[in-house]
Amino acid sequence: MQVDVFTLFPEAFAWFLGQRHVENALAAGSEVRFASYRDWSTLSGRVVDDTPFGGGAGMVLRVDVVDAALQGFYGRDSLEVRSERRVVALTPSGRALDDALASQLAAEPALTLLSGRYEGFDERVVEHLATDAVSIGPYVLAGGELPAMVVMDAVLRKLPGALGHEQSAVEESFSPALSGRPEYPHYTRPASYRGWDVPDVLLSGHHERIREWRLARSREREGGAGGAPPRPGRGGSA
Ligand code: 6GU
Repeated sequence: MQVDVFTLFPEAFAWFLGQRHVENALAAGSEVRFASYRDWSTLSGRVVDDTPFGGGAGMVLRVDVVDAALQGFYGRDSLEVRSERRVVALTPSGRALDDALASQLAAEPALTLLSGRYEGFDERVVEHLATDAVSIGPYVLAGGELPAMVVMDAVLRKLPGALGHEQSAVEESFSPALSGRPEYPHYTRPASYRGWDVPDVLLSGHHERIREWRLARSREREGGAGGAPPRPGRGGSA
């Protein structure tokens, strides 16, 4: 698939692109390109943001700048671009990213990710230039670069050839293979460490019993806060 990232900080993605599964996805034919909003700004000083109408704190990414970047990069009208590919605006008010959305995006031949900075986008970006608004969780980050990497990570690792072992992405947390449930726990050597023992069943070689044990653990984790019970001194009120 082809992923284009619009950002104020293309250099922030260097580490991400060096990840093994990303390199694998690129070697298998995917492509990630970057466009800097600033490069396409025609405003003096290559300005990309402005103060919000109605007042308030912070700066807002301008709709004309995002529009110009899309038109400049693709060489055609941004509304045409929007009709040809998913254009995802990364914003905390968007639809929460989950495994189903990641799979849906992974099935697209081409994707455009719009990272924001400052207080966010002019709402007209979301309304008229994007096809989707996506959030990576109920908290606010200073910019859309980390969310863009999160979305790409979740999407690219689902592509054939991204992970070494083809099955790795099939039976994992939140996947249809586990009915959307969290994954079962994993263990590796040593089988015993400081008296912390790996469950016997996993060392038994009984594949059917192992499968049942794993499904049972996955079901146990469902709806839980993620495994370990609260411990004293870890911020719990009890
Ligand atoms: Cl997509 N952007 C920002 N700035 N903060 C977020 C987010 C996105 N998702 C969760 N928090």
